[in-house]
Amino acid sequence: MTNAKHKKLFIKTWGCQMNVYDSNRMADVLAPLGYKPVDTPEDADMVILNTCHIREKATDKVFSELGRLREHMEDKKAKGGRMLMAVAGCVAQAEGDFIMQRAPYVDMVFGPQTYHELPQMVMKATGERVVNTDMPSDSKFDHLPQENDNQGVTAFLSIQEGCDKFCTFCVVPYTRGAEYSRNIKGISEEAKKLVDVGAREITLLGQNVNAYHGEDAQGRTVGLGGLIAALAEIDGLERIRYTTSHPRDMDQELIDAHKDIPKLMPFLHLPIQSGSDRILKAMNRQHTADTYRDIIADIKKARPDIAMSSDFIVGFPGESDEDFEDTMQIVRDVTYAYAYSFKYSPRPGTPAANMAGQIHDKVKIERIMRLQALLNEQQLDFNNKTVGKTVPVLFDRKGVKDGQLHGRTPYNQAIHVKAPERLFGQVVMAEVTEGNSNSLTGNVAIF
Ligand code: 5AD
Ligand code: SF4
Repeated sequence: MTNAKHKKLFIKTWGCQMNVYDSNRMADVLAPLGYKPVDTPEDADMVILNTCHIREKATDKVFSELGRLREHMEDKKAKGGRMLMAVAGCVAQAEGDFIMQRAPYVDMVFGPQTYHELPQMVMKATGERVVNTDMPSDSKFDHLPQENDNQGVTAFLSIQEGCDKFCTFCVVPYTRGAEYSRNIKGISEEAKKLVDVGAREITLLGQNVNAYHGEDAQGRTVGLGGLIAALAEIDGLERIRYTTSHPRDMDQELIDAHKDIPKLMPFLHLPIQSGSDRILKAMNRQHTADTYRDIIADIKKARPDIAMSSDFIVGFPGESDEDFEDTMQIVRDVTYAYAYSFKYSPRPGTPAANMAGQIHDKVKIERIMRLQALLNEQQLDFNNKTVGKTVPVLFDRKGVKDGQLHGRTPYNQAIHVKAPERLFGQVVMAEVTEGNSNSLTGNVAIF
């Protein structure tokens, strides 16, 4: 299958870290066909749009990007070449047929479960148009080569995919399919490879990462806490993180891992979505505001300095002023170091899209502005509280200014530190001298 002539591959990625990870895997799987990633679509031999369907206007964005890319396609054609055009990811999964109809120049549309079949699809597409939105039962992870070069000091590793929770607002169970966990062996091998090529921190990824239940070599089922304990044994790996978790899957083993495993960083992204029990029920979240508070109390017992992060949705169908105030209250109670908040956006095919009581955009805007003001205040507060402390910082890239390195604190805060380049890739104690809402500034304390 090797092709001596290099072909240019341009991948544009929208959405979450899972998609970034998948884009790297697509590049890996196409490498044996001679494709090499490039930074711009001009003159590319293949363009892949790796799309996200989770929130607003996803399909519109894809079509406008396709419109722009079409010019490059025409240019290439005028020069006697051919640019293969592919749409991948969750929009492809959800709207594959519609894309093929509305954009006849698209060669391939394929969903997240089919990336390992890409080489075959590409070979076929040079002859015919292809739609592949199957959800095969054997996982793509078992087939994708894992080169993982260029991930750098902080790397991502996908351990779980899909979701069986069916929150009523969410497309993931439909676009990514049923929950699937990779086995420990495959994950450990990939983690070791990442460390060999320079990773010092690995973030374990999954749509519902703490639902992880993979098999070990003896065929026993191991949860996320057990997997983290196994990975913590890898020499040279200094830090482990995971995202995104569901409150229902925050089991004792995982909570204890935060106490017992120093490599596991004290930062937890645990979406609550709403502080109102009525809305949580309508969302099918299967937890209440109080059970969430209890989980946080348990985690704080295990790791008192843990920094919390969350996702929020405002304006879910039927959300009253009172419901929204409950959300504001839980934010005040928990206090977050970081958070994402979204206006509810009806996703076709999900139960909430057809619920009565859809909220007017004006109300959603008012609510999200109030919520974000409170969350920003908390984030700034959290960062300011770090000022004056000395914290371990992992330097993961060059800073914007000369003589500066960029790093992360254990609490996932970005920090810019005046430091020599030789400290790149190391964990170094730094004193935090300044804080603002998005980052910190510091000096190297000891090295
Ligand atoms: N509307 C708004 N936000 C959504 N999310 C998921 N689906 C929707 C939707 N239909 C948000 C949730 C989730 C995050 C990844 O995206 O907060 O946790
Ligand atoms: Fe979507 Fe997360 Fe709910 Fe699964 S748990 S349905 S991925 S919001």
